[in-house]
Amino acid sequence: MHETLLHIKQFFKTWTGRDNRWLAVPCTIAALLVLAVAVKSCQGIVYLNSNEHKINRLGYPLEEARLLVTVLNEAQADSLIARQEHDTLAVPLVKERYFIAANFDRYLAYHKRDTLGASTSDIIAVVNVGRDLDPEEYATHCDTTKGYLMLVNRLHYLDENYKPRHLVTINKNFTYEENKADSAAVEAFVAMQEDCKQQTGAQLMVNSAYRSFQQQISTYKRNDKRFVARAGKSEHQTGLALDITSLQHPMRGPFDTSAEGVWMRENCHKYGFILRYPKKQSHILGYSYEPWHLRYVGVKTATRVHDEGITYDEYYAFYIENS
Ligand code: DAL
Ligand code: ZN
Repeated sequence: MHETLLHIKQFFKTWTGRDNRWLAVPCTIAALLVLAVAVKSCQGIVYLNSNEHKINRLGYPLEEARLLVTVLNEAQADSLIARQEHDTLAVPLVKERYFIAANFDRYLAYHKRDTLGASTSDIIAVVNVGRDLDPEEYATHCDTTKGYLMLVNRLHYLDENYKPRHLVTINKNFTYEENKADSAAVEAFVAMQEDCKQQTGAQLMVNSAYRSFQQQISTYKRNDKRFVARAGKSEHQTGLALDITSLQHPMRGPFDTSAEGVWMRENCHKYGFILRYPKKQSHILGYSYEPWHLRYVGVKTATRVHDEGITYDEYYAFYIENS
């Protein structure tokens, strides 16, 4: 060992000695070049193993591959690569306003099995609200700590014994039979019916408001399933939902096209209500259009839901669960 070190020492001494000093510069340059080539090769190997390259090789142009790796996390990118095919909808989906990266795999899976040619915005909406999931398997408890913003639907259910804390009786002038609802929702309704009366001359009336789990069981049994939720999955149990028509148009159909029905849908957000089951989005929520069913969420949220033209389920998925 000691001898080897001596040899090396001698070699360097000779190499850098007076006669061989001219060799030092070219040798150093050569060594640096070798090092540069080695580093470049390593970088090449690293790039070949990068998700950007792998996605590019699936047929996505470089710019799209770069966008995908920026938006997706490692696991999501791996899952895209594992598909081993180029999906023409991947990038348009990523560019959608309500795109949620965590749902990316499900968007692609939904697109693959969709035979009706849903648009990218529909795929985003349907998956964000969980219509691609089987409620039997995926339903979870409603997060009641969200208060006025809680979401109750097929995937978010309330327990049999859940009862809202601030129920008040609705003034009999505004309801056909005795009904209770959350105090803030009732206060907002009272203000809304007053303005509606002034502007359209019609009296808004509550048909149904808070319904207990047990009441919802019989409501479900008695009614068309396109319009009624199963017990535990109806937001009437929150006390925040009101079914409304008017004295002048007590039937739901005529109320829909009446001046007060139109006024209510156009103005209810100013009082904190949203139309919960809109006509053009019934395929997203799976319930038929209900021009009578309002849900109280507070003015700020109602205004945003109204202005953005989305359903509450989409709003909740994007702005509440996703953030
Ligand atoms: N009409 C709605 C879907 C309910 O029953 O809660
Ligand atoms: Zn209702």
